[in-house]
Amino acid sequence: MNFRVVFTAPIHSDGINIVKNVAEVDVLSTPPLSEEELIRSIASADALVPTLGIEPITRRVIERASRLKIIARHGVGYNNIDIDAATEHGIWVTITPVEELLEAVADHAFALLLCIARNICRADRFVKSSRWGIDSLDKLYTFTGVGLRGKTIGIIGLGRIGRRVAERAKGFKMKIVYYDIVRKAEAEEHGIEYRGLEDLLRESDFIIIATPLTDRTRDMIGEREISLMKPTAYIINIARGGIVNQKALYRALKEGRIAGAALDVFQQEPIPAGDPLLELENTVLTPHIAWLTDESRRAMAITVAEEVTRVLMGEDPKHPVNPKVKEILRAKGKINSR
Ligand code: DGY
Repeated sequence: MNFRVVFTAPIHSDGINIVKNVAEVDVLSTPPLSEEELIRSIASADALVPTLGIEPITRRVIERASRLKIIARHGVGYNNIDIDAATEHGIWVTITPVEELLEAVADHAFALLLCIARNICRADRFVKSSRWGIDSLDKLYTFTGVGLRGKTIGIIGLGRIGRRVAERAKGFKMKIVYYDIVRKAEAEEHGIEYRGLEDLLRESDFIIIATPLTDRTRDMIGEREISLMKPTAYIINIARGGIVNQKALYRALKEGRIAGAALDVFQQEPIPAGDPLLELENTVLTPHIAWLTDESRRAMAITVAEEVTRVLMGEDPKHPVNPKVKEILRAKGKINSR
């Protein structure tokens, strides 16, 4: 067995075992990895599985990995990978868009929405501090939440995850509006109304960020955009931290210009100790776990392992994000020119 596959962090053993049938496996354990550590770790690797999606797979890293044939993302976000560099070097980049992952992220968006709307986390801390029954009744009223029925949810990015968030919002009898660079006729036929970004921000009671991080969406929600939101509005981000400008968001939350935020993703992950966001009461924060359920972990691990195996065995992957790489491989004579 001559292949070597590097995982940047452990994945479900069912996936690792599939890869072990065709390659030697190295599982690194202490993220986040720096560029230098990655370069060292994958110098002789045939495949790389960036498990967490925060590894800096830059052009420099790719240029140094002369044997690499596939970068198989365990997840659907690939903003941490220089796709152009991978394509130029004839390296496949794949993702794991399995149903279980997409459902998990949509569930988590709603879990965050309910937590922030009903003050669940703050109330949990109160009960556990044994103050219930000791503090006056007024304290209980500080947990007054807001109802969802009839409220407007604004979904930014009506893709695979955004659509699933909309399905859940329907069950809560919410009005659903969306913004996306591509209009979705089918959604509109089902009563999901399109809005320009500014109108969506002005109208929504809950804003869900469900769009990938790209050059176009980086800092898409900054000071000006936040200033358009209602003072009673909440923002929920299950996509990527860089889409919402974290400093602008902090200021708006601190000054009570919006009601609250529930975030699973951050500009820097793990969020550094001492970050001012950690001190706010009107936030709910989770450590980039929206994707993480028993079901999704296993399904993603198996899918990523199958992608790696296919490519090492000379087949095409099923979920490439850079299908153009095939032309490059053909031009380099690495596959048949048919
Ligand atoms: C994804 O699928 O990209 C999730 O954020 C997990 O990395």
